[in-house]
Order: sequence, then structure tokens, then C-alpha cells
Amino acid sequence: MIHGAHGYLISSFLSPLTNHREDSFGGGREDRARFAVEVVKSVRSAVGEDFPVFFRLNGEDFLPGGITVEDASVTARLLQGAGADVISVGGGVGIVAHDLSLGDNKSYGQMIMPMYIPRGCRVGIAEKIRKGLKIPVSVAGRINDPFLARDVIAQGKADLVDLGRQMIADPFFPQKMADGRIEDICRCIACNYCHGKRIRAIKQIRCTVNPLAGREAESREVKPAQIPKKVMIIGGGIAGLQAARWLAKRGHRVSLWEKENQVGGQILLASLPPQKEEIRSLLEFLNRQIEKLPVKVDLGCAVSPETVERERPDVVIIATGGRPVRPGNIPMNKKMKCPSAWEVLSGKEKFLGDKTVILGGGYVGAEAADFICTQALSEKVTILEMREAVALDLEPASRQMLLERLKEFGVQMMVHFRVREVTAGEVWGEDTRTGEREKIDADSVVVALGTESVGFPMDAVREKGMKVLWIGDAREPWGIAESMREGFLAGVSI
Ligand SMILES: Cc1cc2nc3c(=O)[nH]c(=O)nc-3n(C[C@H](O)[C@H](O)[C@H](O)COP(=O)(O)O)c2cc1C
Ligand code: SF4
Repeated sequence: MIHGAHGYLISSFLSPLTNHREDSFGGGREDRARFAVEVVKSVRSAVGEDFPVFFRLNGEDFLPGGITVEDASVTARLLQGAGADVISVGGGVGIVAHDLSLGDNKSYGQMIMPMYIPRGCRVGIAEKIRKGLKIPVSVAGRINDPFLARDVIAQGKADLVDLGRQMIADPFFPQKMADGRIEDICRCIACNYCHGKRIRAIKQIRCTVNPLAGREAESREVKPAQIPKKVMIIGGGIAGLQAARWLAKRGHRVSLWEKENQVGGQILLASLPPQKEEIRSLLEFLNRQIEKLPVKVDLGCAVSPETVERERPDVVIIATGGRPVRPGNIPMNKKMKCPSAWEVLSGKEKFLGDKTVILGGGYVGAEAADFICTQALSEKVTILEMREAVALDLEPASRQMLLERLKEFGVQMMVHFRVREVTAGEVWGEDTRTGEREKIDADSVVVALGTESVGFPMDAVREKGMKVLWIGDAREPWGIAESMREGFLAGVSI
């Protein structure tokens, strides 16, 4: 595959935005395509006639003045003439990706689409390009659903589908599709954890939903349990479900105890902000897997030390999750309505008043603002954040799209702001750079200051040789990826 998309060298020749040449490689569409055509011709002559040559082409740059689908259609025909076998349609430009400001590169998220962009987002463009071609067209972009993949091809919109992140999330997707085991497919949730700064830094692939991504060799170590044990899992969030799944698969006798009337824990909340529904597919996947296994699931059961004593398991896994941090050191007037972001997302608050102030501008606070505006729970929303910007804990593509939404809603973001006090109708604080005191009027204050672990009084249990493991947010509040990984590790280590 020759990469002629996403802002790399060849595509920078193709794009009128970056190609300002005045020689024969610049100018109109044919001239801008000359470099790509030369590359394809020379590759073809080097590899011979029977070697497949794919060309990755931006169907659109998604930047003003960049490549349009009309440009791409002309280029595709020229590449076909030059000897390309397949046109693989991409989109978006990946440069200036990590700039924090909104203005610079709005097309980054079109290259590596977060949940805000619908599944199969590039299919319409591929279809247009395909119309003028004799060679096959393939298309990438949020294809994580077997029925979508099938329809794209069956309806003649493209000849092939490119699976990028879906193959990281579940490398057996094509096999499962061929076998008709659709329910066993674990979908990519487009969270872009695999593309985040932290993962790039370690230079290995990692995935939120697939704890074995980049560590595939570990799967060889997963063996049936030599001595099946009685394992009690306290907490039916992601970590608990994942542990239950792997333990039961390996032959342990597993019971999972959840105090709510449904499993899922925080993932239920995480899927509630606008455009975040995709996250729920992970819970659905785990549920489907658990249903196939002999896991005893007890819902609506708050486990006490006495329950553990009575059950006498060999192993207790504490997966009790987390809860929102309350602002302990900030005086809060009792007359002010102060729900947590979790309470707001769960629909407990029907109206927050005209003015809402959100304490904490991490992604939970920012998504809560999006939710409040979308649901019209308040007229005016202000986010107060101590760091230099809002939602810094989100990967760049999602962050950019979320911030754009907040901008459109007119959400005010006050950064470098330290909250000092919440009175009956105001939030007081100061600018950490100048020390200047500031006051914001508020009818409600939504608390989004992070998560803390929910413990379990294991000391109260006479352990009598019981092995105890703490996993997920109960051990340390972190993210879905870490909960999935810790659940897996617990599931294969007993
Ligand atoms: C971990 C990762 C690394 C990627 N690296 C590149 C890259 O180096 N160059 C590129 O053009 N696209 C890169 N992409 C983008 C993919 O080629 C693809 O266009 C994108 O992921 C959308 O397809 P998908 O929804 O099937 O994943 C990368 C994607 C991921 C997830
Ligand atoms: S980390 Fe997220 S975006 Fe990347 S492959 Fe896994 S689920 Fe998909």
C-alpha cells in the first residue's frame, strides 16, 4: 500500500492547501496528482504486473481549501491509469495533532475518528469515488459492526472494508463473522486510547477493550484451572465482569455480587453523555459472554463481611469500584444544590436552574456540561478548572470535538481557577496566576472533582486462608482500559 493520505508527503502534493508549487507538480488536479502517479508507475514497474498495489487516498481533507471528494475522484482515476489495483479511501489530516487550541487542525479527528463521528463515516465518500472507477475501492473509518461491513459491500458502496482499530479491539472479527459468532465480537468503542500520548510514548499497542492487544503472547499462558476454586467477586462493574468471565472460562466456580439491580457500574454513566453510547457495547459484550458461562450473578445484593464469612470462598475479588470525590476542603453552603456529575448524568436532576457552575474541568466535568446543555438542564454553564485548559485528560481528537460542542453551546470555561467557597448563590475563588478574587453567580454547582475508591472491610472478615484481590477503581481509580486489564489479570492469575 502506498500511503497517499492523511497529510503525509504524497498527499501534501495532492492537497491544494499544501501544494503551492509553480512547476509541473503544482497547479490543477492533474498536476498535483503527478507526483502520486509517478510513484505508482515506478512501484508498478518495480513489482511487476501480478503484485497488488493499493493506494491510500484522502477522499477529503476536511480542511477549508483542502482535498475534496471531486479532487479525490479525479486523482483515483489517474492512479488507476498509472497501475494501482485498489484505492483505499481515508480522510483527514494528522499534522498539528496535539495542539491544544481549537483552531489549528479540526481535521485530525476525521483521520482517527472518535465516538463523536458516526460508524462508517467515510462510506459515502468511497461510494462517490468508486462510481468513476473500474478497480476496487476499499474504505476505512469506524467500521466496527459486522452488519455495517456486510452492507457496505453488499450494497456496492465499496468493494472492501478496511478494519483499523476494530482489528486491535478484536483481531478475530473476520473469523467470528465468517463463523456467524457475531455475539462474540468485541467492538472497538472509538475511544482512541490506542492513539493517545501515553500509548505512543511506550511505543506498543494497547487497547481499552482488549487487554491482550500488544501482549498477544500472554494468551498462550491462559490455561484451564488446575484446581477449580470458589471465587466470590464483589462488584459488577467492568473489572468484576471481566474477572468473572476469565475465571469462569478457566473452570473456576464464580459468583458475582452487585449491589445495584444491574451490572455495569460506572460504564453505564460513561455511556450517557451525548455521542458516548458506543461505550455501552463493551458492557453488552461482557454481558453476552457472562451469560454463556456458569457465573452466578446476584443483583441487588450489598455484600457485607458476614456474607463473605457465610459463603466461605477460596478467593475474594474486591471490585467495588469508585464514587465521586466530594470537595472536602471547600466550604459549601447547604442552601446550594450541589449534585455530583454522576448524579446529573444518571438523570436524577431534572432542572439545575438558570446558572450552573461545574467544579472541575476534567473530561467528566466537560462531558457533564455537554449533557446539561443538550438536555437543557440549565441556561448558562460555566466550568471552573485549576489547570490551564479543560478536558486535558481526553485524547486530542475526542477533546477537540467535545470542546467544539461546548463552544457552540456557549459554555464558559474559566481555567487557572481555584475554588475557595460555595455560598448560597455564588462560587468564590481566585485566578491562580494573579491571585485576583472572582465570583460566579450560580443556582447549582455540579461537582466533578474526580473519583475515589469504594473500599470493603476485609479486616472484618476472618480470612482463614482466603486470598483477597483488589481490582479496578476499588484498587485505584483509573480508566476502563485499566479495569479491563486488571479484571483479566485477576481472571488468569488464580
Ligand atoms: C494505533 C493507530 C495508529 C495509526 N497510525 C497511522 C499512521 O501512522 N498513519 C496513518 O495514516 N494512519 C494511521 N492510523 C489511522 C488508520 O489508518 C485509520 O485511518 C483510522 O484508524 C480509521 O480507521 P478505523 O476506524 O478502522 O480505525 C492509525 C490508527 C491507529 C488506531
Ligand atoms: S483503544 Fe479504543 S479506539 Fe483503540 S482499538 Fe481499542 S477500543 Fe478501539
